[in-house]
Order: sequence, then C-alpha cells, then structure tokens
Amino acid sequence: MSAMPAPSVLFVCLGNICRSPMAEGAMRDAAARAGIRMHIDSAGTGGWHRGAHPDPRAQAVAEAHGVDISHLRARKVRSEDFEDFDHIIAMDRENLMNLRRMAPPGSRAALSLILDHVPGQEGRSVADPYYGGEDGFARTWTDVSAGAEALLGKLGATGPAG
Ligand code: 4NP
Repeated sequence: MSAMPAPSVLFVCLGNICRSPMAEGAMRDAAARAGIRMHIDSAGTGGWHRGAHPDPRAQAVAEAHGVDISHLRARKVRSEDFEDFDHIIAMDRENLMNLRRMAPPGSRAALSLILDHVPGQEGRSVADPYYGGEDGFARTWTDVSAGAEALLGKLGATGPAG
C-alpha cells in the first residue's frame, strides 16, 4: 500500500486570534477523533497580532467543547504558504479576496471559504466575532466545527492515518 501524504490545510482569517485558530482547533480535534493524519495550521492576512495567543473568548469557547487552543500563536500568511499547503481556507469573503490577490501566480494551494464545504452554506462568511459579545464566539464555533467535519469527510477520504 502506498503512503499517501497527509492532506495539509491552512485556515485564514484577519487577525489569526479568533476565527482561524478556532477552526484549527476544531479541525485538529475532528481529525484526531477520526484517526486521520492531517497537517493543520492557521494564519492571518493581517499581522497586528503576530505572536499573540488566541483571544481569551475564543479559548473559552473551544475549551467548553473540549479543545485546547491556548498554545497557538498568531502569524501572518506568507507567500510560501501557497506552495506548502494543499488547501488555504478563508473564514470570510474579504479574506478570500485578499488571499487571491496575495497568491503567487501558478501556486499550488486551492483557495476556498470554509463554509463552501458545508452543504447549503456555500459562499457564506463566518462573521467576525472580535467586536461583539460571547454569543458571537459561540456562533463562530458552530460554523468552524461544521466546516471542520465537512472537510474531514472530503479530505479524510484521501488517506487514513497509518
Ligand atoms: P479574527 O478576528 O480575524 O477572527 O482573528 C479579528 C481579530 C482582530 C481584529 C479583527 C478581527 N483586529 O482588528 O484587531
């Protein structure tokens, strides 16, 4: 049996302290529960929060779902990401547009919105919870965990752990 390389996925939002680290945590958790090996990371199109841990509200919601994202550190998207990852998955349309602009010509990564992978939610953005209340973060978790499960169904089929 040939060893399929583990699929690689980079989740991207604006600051890399709210939505994309939550997506990274949800995806790591879903892949671990399914026993599927995957390379998972997250980044921001903006660099203001570089080196910061996820927002405490994002950490709290993930923790409430049994997922620890406290160790993650924000970083900015870099041009190598477009070659290094199979999939670069934006949280919203604005960030997707910026990623398309940043992508070096002919680069490898497939760009999409996270909710494009959830039947019936194609084209929808995950709302930015940063300036809102706690309930926004709960909605973010609902969206990113639905996206993670849907992605697992698609990408997990390309090669099980082993
Ligand atoms: P994120 O949320 O893109 O989901 O990480 C934001 C975090 C910080 C800012 C905006 C959105 N900000 O303007 O600092």
